[in-house]
Amino acid sequence: MTENGLICDTVAFVEDFFGDKGDGHDAGHTLRVYRTALMLAEDEPECDVEVVALAALLHDVDDYKLNKGVQSSNAAGWLAAQAYSPQKTEAVLKIIDEVSFRGAGVDDACSTLEGAVVQDADRLDAIGCVGIIRTFVYGASRGRPMYDKEIPPRLHDSFEAYKAGSAGGTSVNHFYEKLFLLKDRMKTAAGRKLAEERDGFMREFVERLTRELAP
Ligand code: ADP
Ligand code: NI
Repeated sequence: MTENGLICDTVAFVEDFFGDKGDGHDAGHTLRVYRTALMLAEDEPECDVEVVALAALLHDVDDYKLNKGVQSSNAAGWLAAQAYSPQKTEAVLKIIDEVSFRGAGVDDACSTLEGAVVQDADRLDAIGCVGIIRTFVYGASRGRPMYDKEIPPRLHDSFEAYKAGSAGGTSVNHFYEKLFLLKDRMKTAAGRKLAEERDGFMREFVERLTRELAP
């Protein structure tokens, strides 16, 4: 897609918004999700690429973890300030609303193809080499231990339980509670293929890590 003025302005907005946050939610994550989403959209000719681009760029600006659980409306505010079409704004906000993982037992269906593309792109950045690094950076930013064999992973059946559970958990548990589950929940063919490869590497890494941490 040729980047239009709105997309360029939105790139600048998110770069400024995330600044140099170092807890896995930096501008680098958002820009990778944006580029991956555009790549996945190339295989989906029916996709509205502008909606995909905006949703990818704005997908984390209202994340509950960044906003300490307080509901924000940064994405809606930004699009309104740009006088963006209300109908497309609604489509973008719906994608953002549906993008997140909310626990192993919680449905994460996407109601649109554009949403599936953005969700897959976000999840691809949570697995593989980058995913491994983000997990430990995030865990460290919250003061969580890397591993504790006395704290077993749990499969949460509600968003509330997932949020509460991860607070007392470990970074290694996050692989079992979320990251290893993502491969089978990918929604586009291209996303699934990339996820399978990244998942294999990640599993080998966690097996080795666990052996080293608990000899
Ligand atoms: P995403 O932006 O991919 O949706 P999240 O917003 O859930 O991911 O979290 C940001 C990063 O931190 C991701 O790489 C994610 O896997 C990681 N993360 C989230 N929760 C935890 C946790 N409880 N322990 C370790 N890493 C976590
Ligand atoms: Ni994200």
